[in-house]
Amino acid sequence: MSETPWVNAPWEHPDWYDIHDTAWTAGPEREPEHYGELVIALPPLDAGDHLLDAGCGTGKLAALVAGGYPKLGRVTLLEPNALKLERAVAKLRELLPKARVDGVPGSLGESAGVTVEAANVVIVGSVLMPIMELRGGALADGLAWLRAALRDLVRCIRPGGWLYDVETLAAPWARGGPTDPVRRLTLPELVDEVARAGLDAVECAYRFRDRMIVKARRP
Ligand SMILES: C[S@@+](CC[C@H](N)C(=O)[O-])C[C@H]1O[C@@H](n2cnc3c(N)ncnc32)[C@H](O)[C@@H]1O
Repeated sequence: MSETPWVNAPWEHPDWYDIHDTAWTAGPEREPEHYGELVIALPPLDAGDHLLDAGCGTGKLAALVAGGYPKLGRVTLLEPNALKLERAVAKLRELLPKARVDGVPGSLGESAGVTVEAANVVIVGSVLMPIMELRGGALADGLAWLRAALRDLVRCIRPGGWLYDVETLAAPWARGGPTDPVRRLTLPELVDEVARAGLDAVECAYRFRDRMIVKARRP
């Protein structure tokens, strides 16, 4: 049987195109659902647990976890933007008055590396794919940064601890190899990178259109 012209380019099929034209993204209005799924994917957290939110922004994801686990003992918030970090720390201290909450200014994947005490659960909310893309350059540059960021993240996880990362993946028509412009990764590409960083039990814990949660354990 001869190949149809749209095997490798499904958007060339007019019906596929009409179905997907504006429907391939999960859409920002569904973000609370995806972040909620990350909380659902977590193991139980209590006074003896240490949660690290890497690239915490203003603390939205850590706050959601704190809402579900009010006895959580320790939270570390890592973020390069000082004003966002300040807001995140204030938010988490208010939500968890008995917990130890530390704010650490810092960036994943930079030459200085990240130094925080390793946590047993590390969460990442929409950091790896957008920052990889925002940095620009070629896909090879993006992958070099992503691999450095994942090396930092692995060091932030205690042996036996877990990483949970919610990300927005590449569009179905994203194409291009190492020398082409940087793009977000597909699910298998991201899962491969997480495994390649030395984590095991790598699994897609949730997916809805372009949104996914990858979980993995540090051996
Ligand atoms: C899309 S926001 C997500 C913020 C937060 N995790 C959330 O879910 O609301 C990406 C965050 O990553 C931070 N960021 C930028 N470069 C970073 C890096 N190299 N390492 C860690 N975080 C970074 C940005 O300052 C921003 O707060």
